[in-house]
This record gives sequence, structure tokens and C-alpha cells, in this order.
Amino acid sequence: MKTQVVIIGAGPAGLLLGHLLRAEGVDCVIVERAAADYVLGRIRAGVLERTTTDLLERLGIDERLRREGLLEEGFCLADGERLIRIDTYGLTGKHVTVYGQTEVTRDLMEAAPGRGLEIIYEAADVALHAIDSEAPYVSFTKDGSERRIDARFIAGCDGYHGPSRRAIPASAAREYERVYPFGWLGILADVAPCHDELIYANHARGFALASMRSRVRSRYYIDVPLTERVEDWPDERLWDELAIRLGPEAATRISRGPAIEKSIAPLRSYVFEPMRHGSLFLAGDAAHIVPPTGAKGLNLAASDVAYLSEALTGYFRRGDRDGVAGFSAKALARVWKAERFSWSLTKLMHRFPEDGPFERQMQMAELDYIASSRAAQTAIAENYVGLPL
Ligand code: APR
Ligand code: PHB
Repeated sequence: MKTQVVIIGAGPAGLLLGHLLRAEGVDCVIVERAAADYVLGRIRAGVLERTTTDLLERLGIDERLRREGLLEEGFCLADGERLIRIDTYGLTGKHVTVYGQTEVTRDLMEAAPGRGLEIIYEAADVALHAIDSEAPYVSFTKDGSERRIDARFIAGCDGYHGPSRRAIPASAAREYERVYPFGWLGILADVAPCHDELIYANHARGFALASMRSRVRSRYYIDVPLTERVEDWPDERLWDELAIRLGPEAATRISRGPAIEKSIAPLRSYVFEPMRHGSLFLAGDAAHIVPPTGAKGLNLAASDVAYLSEALTGYFRRGDRDGVAGFSAKALARVWKAERFSWSLTKLMHRFPEDGPFERQMQMAELDYIASSRAAQTAIAENYVGLPL
């Protein structure tokens, strides 16, 4: 089989790239290790920047998003006592949209057949070959038989654990990493959210986040040491802790309910440079990870593939090689700014084991400054709604 671009991975990055390429008449095929149902089982952050919703609108895959997505005009930071509102709409003229990442994935998956986007699920032993040449190919096993797809380019959209990044020789790359000394324990429950807008709280006992999926489904998190297990946190213990950390105003409005899902996720900042090697491009989690504070993961995947589809379309339509050559630098410029924002919001809102009373005072002083400064609020709001493409 032969195509123009083989995309490895049918997560949000791969699916969105596939649709963007098909919309421009570029041939591509997606090869995914898991089954379609498995891909839809993953629960991840649900805050979409305008840049992300604009892409879905451009593709016309935004009908359900417009119907069910919640347009948010702001969010809150909390210091254990008060809520500090960041009026993102008033400060930037932009909303963010609360809409689960799982739903974005589902919409992109369901739109694929009608748009001639082929996805091969349950492809085992996916391997990349000849990425240094102009005739790379991908091999895999499907239903017991060996298969091969030849292409002009490979797009590695296979997440942090996929094979694409590993195909690039270490001598040609550089990695940057920060692993945080805590994880986020999340609970999803069919109860009304405690507040119309998200609340990120830094309480003396630790971090908490009040988020939502809809007006009847809530998502909450607290940070926990990496040694904790989900079994240590029966629902009632977690609700009690959330009520303390989110502060008195939110606590009175928390509705409790049984967990539909409960899990602990580690926090990491990671960047792999460059995002192209020969005929292989990386996009999304394959190239970078952000801690979930600020919900930039999916949005960065979306901006990566917006740049990449532009570069590939220019190549196939006009024979333009500059877009391909400039992709990595262009994508990384935006990646690093989102890394910085996610890292700084993580530092501001969490207690680190090595922190003493001085660091705590620094955090409280910064929150107090943000509460009183329109300039500080604007800087946060601009990053939260997403920097321009
Ligand atoms: N062969 C084929 N597919 C693979 C392989 C492999 N060996 N390894 C992984 N994959 C697939 C995974 O099964 C998954 O469906 O690649 C896909 C990667 O999807 P994600 O991990 O969701 O990554 P990405 O599409 O970049 O999405 C970025 O998702 O993890 C969040 O925070 C992240 O919000 C961000 C968004
Ligand atoms: C979520 O709703 O899961 C969520 C929201 C905001 C974040 C992280 C996660 O920063």
C-alpha cells in the first residue's frame, strides 16, 4: 500500500492531522495500535482553547461541540480562603470551551469514514523504516499478517510511549525533562459542579482543582504523594479533602456522588527537540508532555498538527519545502511557551516537599499580587485562552 503521509496513532493529534490533510486533498492513512473502544476509554482534561475550537469549526466537526460545550468566560485561583477570579473573556476577548477530550476524539473518529480518512485499528508491532530517506515506510501486523505502507512522510502522533520518537537517533536529538514529586488523584462523578467556572486552589494541605464535563458531571483533583494508591482514597475521604482544599465558598456547594472513575496520574514536563528528523515528524505527546495544570496538552497537540498540516499541504500542493524545513522551530516556539505556563502554574499552585515556610509565603504573595493587578491577570488570561498560532 502507498500513500502520501502515514500517521502513527489515532489519539487527538493523529485524528486531527488526518482530517486537516484530507480536507486539503492530501492522502493519508492512520495506523493505531489499540482498538477504537480502547481509545475512547481514556479520560483526560477538557478545556479547549479558541485555536483548538477554531480548527474543529474549520473542519465542520463542531456540531456537538457547539451544542454541548460550555463556553467559559473566566476561571478562579484560590488560596484556601478566597477565590481570585481571572476574567479571561474581559481581559482577552476570548472564551475557552469545556468539552471532554474523549468527546473530541469521538467526534473526530465518527467523522472519519465520511471524509475518506482511513484508520487501521489494532495494528501490532508498528515499526518505522528509512526515515532518513525520501521513501520511508511503516510496517505492522494486522490480523496475523505482515503489512507495509510506503509514504513520502511519516507523522509520529503516537503519544509519549510510542515508537516514533525512539526511531530518531539520540545523537540527533535533545531531551528536557522535569518530573514532579506528586500526582493528581482525579474523581469523575455525575453531580453538578460546585462552581460555574474552574477553580485551581493552593491550600496549606495541598492543591485542588474543581472542573467539570457538563452541568451534571464534575471532575475534581487533588495532588497526592506518588506513594499513595487509589485504594487509600475511598470517595468520602476524597470529598472531605476537596471541601477543605477548595476553601469555604466552594465547600458549601460541593455535591457528592459515587466515583465513575478515579485514578492517579503523574505530572511531568518534557520536550524532545527537534520535532522533525528526515521524513519523520513528531506531534502532540510524542514530542512533549505538560503537567495538566492549565490543560495545555490537547491544545498543544492541536497547534502542532495545524502547523504540520500547513507544511505538508504546501509541500504536496506547491512543492514548497520551506514549511517542512521550518516546522520544528515554529512548533517548538509555541510548545516552550505552553511548557513555561504549565510549569509556572504548577509551581504557583502546589506544595513541593522541599518547600519551607518561605516558599509558601512567596506563593501567597504572588496570589495576592495577581488578585490586585490587572496586568498580572492579563498575562495569565492570555496564556490560559491560548497564545496565537
Ligand atoms: N503503534 C500505533 N499506535 C500507537 C503506538 C504504537 N506502537 N503506541 C501508541 N499508539 C497510539 C496510542 O494507542 C494512542 O491512541 O497513539 C495514540 C497517542 O494518543 P495520545 O496519547 O492521546 O497522544 P496525542 O494524540 O498526542 O494527544 C495529546 O492527549 O495525552 C493527552 O495530554 C495529552 O491532551 C494531550 C493529548
Ligand atoms: C479536567 O477537567 O480534567 C481538567 C481541567 C483543567 C485542567 C486539568 C484537567 O487544568
